[in-house]
Amino acid sequence: MPALAQAVAAPLTRAAIFLVATLNRGSENRAIVRSFCGDLAALVRAVEFRDLEGGLSCVLGFGSEAWDRLFGPPRPAELHPFREIRSAARHAVSTPGDLLFHIRAKRMDLCFELATQVMARIANAVAPVDEVHGFRYFDDRDLLGFVDGTENPSGAIAIDAVLIGEEDAAFAGGSYVIVQKYLHDLEAWNVLSTEAQERIIGRTKLSDIELDDSVKPTSAHSVLTTIVENGKEIKILRDNMPFGRPAHGEFGTYFIGYSRSPRTIEQMLENMFVGRPPGNYDRLLDFSRAVTGNLFFVPSATFLENVTEDQTNEDQPAAAESPAAPAVAETSSSIPSVRDGSLGIGSLKGDIPHE
Ligand code: HEM
Repeated sequence: MPALAQAVAAPLTRAAIFLVATLNRGSENRAIVRSFCGDLAALVRAVEFRDLEGGLSCVLGFGSEAWDRLFGPPRPAELHPFREIRSAARHAVSTPGDLLFHIRAKRMDLCFELATQVMARIANAVAPVDEVHGFRYFDDRDLLGFVDGTENPSGAIAIDAVLIGEEDAAFAGGSYVIVQKYLHDLEAWNVLSTEAQERIIGRTKLSDIELDDSVKPTSAHSVLTTIVENGKEIKILRDNMPFGRPAHGEFGTYFIGYSRSPRTIEQMLENMFVGRPPGNYDRLLDFSRAVTGNLFFVPSATFLENVTEDQTNEDQPAAAESPAAPAVAETSSSIPSVRDGSLGIGSLKGDIPHE
């Protein structure tokens, strides 16, 4: 049986909850989260069944340090803490986060219910860091008024872009995800002419057409986030969501990008914050401030299902408590690789190629 991926490439939905939490110290908390891993799929099924049309899905990711505490070796080849970037006034901050829940559905009530059920299971073992309730805005636009998501890959290309294959066979079917919560200065943004905004994004505002190369600056967002290696464009899969609290003057975009190697998104961030070449940075950042930043590894659903509550001695310090984590390590390394782009790769219920 090939490893089933989590719902990384699930269709874009109208609602989402992004939940980042830290794992409390102590082997009892580690045991709670480990035992929860194996039950997550059943929990999603239970909530999903209340409206099968609702397209509920949940992706669970783990930060670098949390991976060591929860599972020990082997570790995913490219898992490391989020690398902050500072350049002039621009700062891609790195903030705490051990667990990420990316919950999506057509309706917020399904997301809300699943988040509630998840927290009912693990609330005592974790501390919430950030919880963002995102919504789809008119025409799939962000709050800056531009359609966001157009150049996302779909189908087999999306699967190829996000799922790990032979390059890290023990973790085949897994993925990396980077999240950043951005707050926009909408007042300043709205002073710009539409043409100036279009040159910052690299696409027209109303019709969402890519600007012609003759007018598109090399600093345009869509240029700086285009990565080409050996003549081939390396894609990532984004599911950004607007969020905000108008009465508090809060208007934001929750950036979430999945990729089979974090290097791709890190390169995009470098281009945006430092510039390509340095100094030729993304002007979107003159109007948008990153207030969080995390990198997580998303193991396959098969990996999660095989995690058991272990027998670690309660006296062992949490950080060093899983030198071997044999059950999981063996299970994961015995998972055959899946990279055919079609078989059983999808959500926890085993469906959904990306739209
Ligand atoms: C303030 C936060 C952000 C906003 C409002 C935003 C908005 C947009 C918009 C409007 C587009 C054009 C339509 C599309 O193809 O989706 C776009 C494209 C894109 N963005 Fe962002 N984005 C943000 C942050 C990021 C970050 C942090 C990354 C990666 C590190 C990123 C990667 C991309 C990529 C890869 C594309 C497609 C480029 C192409 O192939 O043309 N974005 N973004």
